[in-house]
Amino acid sequence: MTNNSFTPRVFSGIKPSGGLTLGNYLGAIKRWVDMQSPDTDNIYCAVDLHAITVWQDPKGLKAGTREIAAGMLASGIDPETSILFNQSQVPEHTELAWIFNCVARVGWMNRMTQFKDKAGKNAEKASLGLYAYPSLMAADILLYHATHVPVGEDQKQHVELTRDIANKFNNDFGVEFFPVAEPVIEGPGTRVMNLRDGTKKMSKSGESDMERINMLDDADKIAKKFKKAKTDPEPLPKTLEGLAGRPEAKNLVDIYSGLADMTPEEVIAEYAGAQWGRFKPALADLAVSKLAPISDEMKRLMDDPAEIDRKLAAGADRARSIAAPILDQTYDIVGLLR
Ligand code: TYM
Repeated sequence: MTNNSFTPRVFSGIKPSGGLTLGNYLGAIKRWVDMQSPDTDNIYCAVDLHAITVWQDPKGLKAGTREIAAGMLASGIDPETSILFNQSQVPEHTELAWIFNCVARVGWMNRMTQFKDKAGKNAEKASLGLYAYPSLMAADILLYHATHVPVGEDQKQHVELTRDIANKFNNDFGVEFFPVAEPVIEGPGTRVMNLRDGTKKMSKSGESDMERINMLDDADKIAKKFKKAKTDPEPLPKTLEGLAGRPEAKNLVDIYSGLADMTPEEVIAEYAGAQWGRFKPALADLAVSKLAPISDEMKRLMDDPAEIDRKLAAGADRARSIAAPILDQTYDIVGLLR
């Protein structure tokens, strides 16, 4: 089946577990902003039900959900052009996830690398929700018949599982009901790495705060973190190929190019042969100039939580108007009496 019969529609989400990082911004939010258009439905979600697959302090979860919403708004998600809401306000997500729990196979879940990474050696003690998480993620996407899913590289396997679920559902019931959604993983920011170890992803849950840039970090912190970022003793190469085998150098070039809207080739052309003493301060200045207006606006928005809540509730109403008929039809296809 092709997606030609489906209207293009974009869905993506972020978990409100800990603050937003530069990885979330370059790998997801910044690209969501660029994809907005009055001609397509772009649906962006703070996936709070995903967050609780690991323990969340209830007050922190509410604050974190508002912070994610503030981050999206401050980065340029327009809640009129796009639909912005938090997942738990649209109960159809969990209802469709149950159907998908009955479509997805245990063997598929067992292959999910993120579960293995997150559950670690203690998988027996992980929540059942963490294991079933990809099925809820498939429901998030397919509940809107989304055709495009802009995510960072780390979510690719989950979007592929979503495609498997859509295909199996369509085959099992002899319908062409769910689109086979495409992951959209483009540009230099789709895998932002840890500043202290270029072989690990930058994440909100890493041990040391020095390994990541948080969207709410102030200018001094950003400068300090880039100054202390791990590098190798070589200067920047003269060609892109010269970054091979230099994960930390490649990461800083990728971050620069993501923030500056330049290709990595253009960054290398500008800084060919430069020492880190020149490149790192330039990167820090660039990051501060791009991120400070966003963090200032985030703080301003977070001072008025009621207004954020109002925007999320309005977005949830719009999301539900798309989701409810699709869930209804799904129940009908499955044979559930309405
Ligand atoms: P989450 O909350 O871990 O991350 C949100 C988005 O940010 C991207 N990202 C990164 N991109 C580049 N470099 C990094 N270091 C980096 N860290 C995070 C992620 O790839 C993601 O796009 N399961 C998802 C949330 C989700 C979802 C969905 C996404 C739930 N339902 C439906 C798309 C569609 C997650 O945990 O993302």
